[in-house]
Amino acid sequence: MIAAYQKRCQSRVDGALEELFQAPRSELERLYQAMRYSVMNGGKRVRPLLVYAACEALEGDIERADGAACAVELIHAYSLVHDDLPAMDDDDLRRGQPTTHKAFDEASAILAGDALQSLAFGALADRRRNPQDAETRLQMIEILSQAAGPAGMVGGQAIDLGSVGVRLDQQALEIMHRHKTGALIEASVALGALASGNADELTHKALLQYARAIGLAFQVQDDILDVESDTATLGKTQGKDEAHDKPTYPALLGLSAAKDYALELRDQALHMLRPFGNSAEPLRELARYIVERRS
Ligand code: IPE
Ligand code: IPE
Ligand code: MG
Ligand code: MG
Ligand code: MG
Repeated sequence: MIAAYQKRCQSRVDGALEELFQAPRSELERLYQAMRYSVMNGGKRVRPLLVYAACEALEGDIERADGAACAVELIHAYSLVHDDLPAMDDDDLRRGQPTTHKAFDEASAILAGDALQSLAFGALADRRRNPQDAETRLQMIEILSQAAGPAGMVGGQAIDLGSVGVRLDQQALEIMHRHKTGALIEASVALGALASGNADELTHKALLQYARAIGLAFQVQDDILDVESDTATLGKTQGKDEAHDKPTYPALLGLSAAKDYALELRDQALHMLRPFGNSAEPLRELARYIVERRS
């Protein structure tokens, strides 16, 4: 079921994203090519899926969620382009292809990332792409800017880079993961809930707690896969965390305890969805998928 749902949402968000990469003039062809290359390259689209699934959980119309789905994937893609740069994780392979700075050059990768970030906020501000009332659009922009910025993803990346070779305790590791990965996943659920137009305070709170659990679970599983998957399946080089001496859950707890922790977080997430009926089934499936995925 998740595979069919995933496919449907992937093609939906891909169609909406595709529209963004038409260069407005010939001088910008290369920049737009680098942007397109960084986004339209087979990502799993987990964050857009969460936007759509949260919208559906509240019985919203997913057509109203396209702008938010694009916005979170654009921020995510930009974060990956910059994460792979030599100054950060120095990776050559992403989604099974050369990283943007390898396929183009470093300056193009930096600019493509910058551009994707701007487009993300544009997608939320745009009334056509994100057909909510002005106040809701503003609220959505605020949520994404918090999640993407120094108090969220960028902050987490700063902690990550400052932690190379450092032994973080579990609390510090959790803070890092909640920032670098959890924040954008939480924002994805929050934006989907807002796009539904039906979020009351209680349901909104339950969804946010769900998102908090899967946000952390997602990075725990990413750490696990870096240890036990392989490069071909991952589409990125396996074993980089250990090679770079990054603090991770398997490094701190051991592989088996890290796996138990991911499952515990999944169960916490599912527990938060108990008040919801069938409409939350895609969110439940996504919680399972996040800890069962192999790539
Ligand atoms: C990888 O994210 C980076 C993290 C935040 C852990 P994904 O595993 O969602 O990567 P794609 O988008 O499918 O390539
Ligand atoms: C990436 O974490 C988090 C962000 C890009 C914000 P990782 O560095 O672990 O992601 P991968 O493993 O390179 O995809
Ligand atoms: Mg990194
Ligand atoms: Mg990385
Ligand atoms: Mg990783």
